[in-house]
Amino acid sequence: MKLPHPIPYQGSKRNLADQILRYFPDEFYRLIEPFAGSAAISVASAFYCKANRFILNDVNQPLIALWNEIINNPTQIIKKYYDIWNGQIGNEEEFYYRVRTKFNETKQPEYLLFLLAKCVKAAVRYNALGAFNQSPDKRRLGRNPQTMRNDILQVSQLLKNKVELYSTDYSSILDKATEYDLIYMDPPYQGTGINGGFNYAGSIDFDDFIISLYSLNKKDIPFILSFDGRTENKTYGRPLPDGLNLTRIEINAGRSTQATLLNRKEYTYEAIYLSPALLKKIDTKKIKNDTGSPAWDDTLLTVGFNLRSKNQKLKIKNQKSKIKNQK
Ligand SMILES: C[S@@+](CC[C@H](N)C(=O)[O-])C[C@H]1O[C@@H](n2cnc3c(N)ncnc32)[C@H](O)[C@@H]1O
Repeated sequence: MKLPHPIPYQGSKRNLADQILRYFPDEFYRLIEPFAGSAAISVASAFYCKANRFILNDVNQPLIALWNEIINNPTQIIKKYYDIWNGQIGNEEEFYYRVRTKFNETKQPEYLLFLLAKCVKAAVRYNALGAFNQSPDKRRLGRNPQTMRNDILQVSQLLKNKVELYSTDYSSILDKATEYDLIYMDPPYQGTGINGGFNYAGSIDFDDFIISLYSLNKKDIPFILSFDGRTENKTYGRPLPDGLNLTRIEINAGRSTQATLLNRKEYTYEAIYLSPALLKKIDTKKIKNDTGSPAWDDTLLTVGFNLRSKNQKLKIKNQKSKIKNQK
């Protein structure tokens, strides 16, 4: 069965969800997503029975209003999407711009759903005045209402009565977390720079964010952070301080779209960071890669899935033993 994903969203972690979920502890109280977006990790956690209670937050208010409709009023939003989607037939482009104007005037969640389903690359883009200004993808009608219906119903079933929704700055959400929760953070820009930088509804101040991470460590609160990424030649995102004591793991995120367009075989890798409190709660020996073999190698500084060739691993090991011998 396919993972449901009702909100099309550029930067969604849906395709990486199963790789990220491998690092979840067996038990925790709530999964908290302070930068929820399309909440791919929460949906996947509910789908694979990894979590049973959730906090979803995003600074984008209409997006959280949309989440509320999807989870708590699924039949209404399904009907509204159906009507809007059918309304475009025969006059697609002009209709899109009309919906976009209506959304900017009213902030109604059904308009946002249609815009995301139909706009270029499902990319939320806001101008300086906070108006949604992304253009339509003229080659597509946007997700078919039948597929949308199935995804909405499934997600509503998975999340109903299990979610607290908020629309505020991430820092207030971190204040709610305790050592029994698990936080998954996917803040804007850093990890997504690979795709050219997105213009989400909000942003973060790097230094404040780092201070928040130190504070989570101090309170022994487990977290996973998606933060940076790289293609074979280029790294995106600012380095995190060593003092945070995070374990960096690289995940193969597949072929880079840009490289594919240029007919080059280039892969992109996204990094996730595990906090020290999380590391204490997981049994690293149980973590398996795609082929089912053990994936955690304590002798390597960075643990990678499908990442390093045997040669690269050997090089790192040799370098490490050289350093050891020099001491
Ligand atoms: C990279 S996206 C998250 C994508 C998400 N993991 C998914 O699977 O769809 C980052 C999100 O953070 C939100 N955001 C930006 N600044 C924020 C802030 N200061 N506090 C809370 N959310 C914020 C954006 O609106 C955006 O939806």
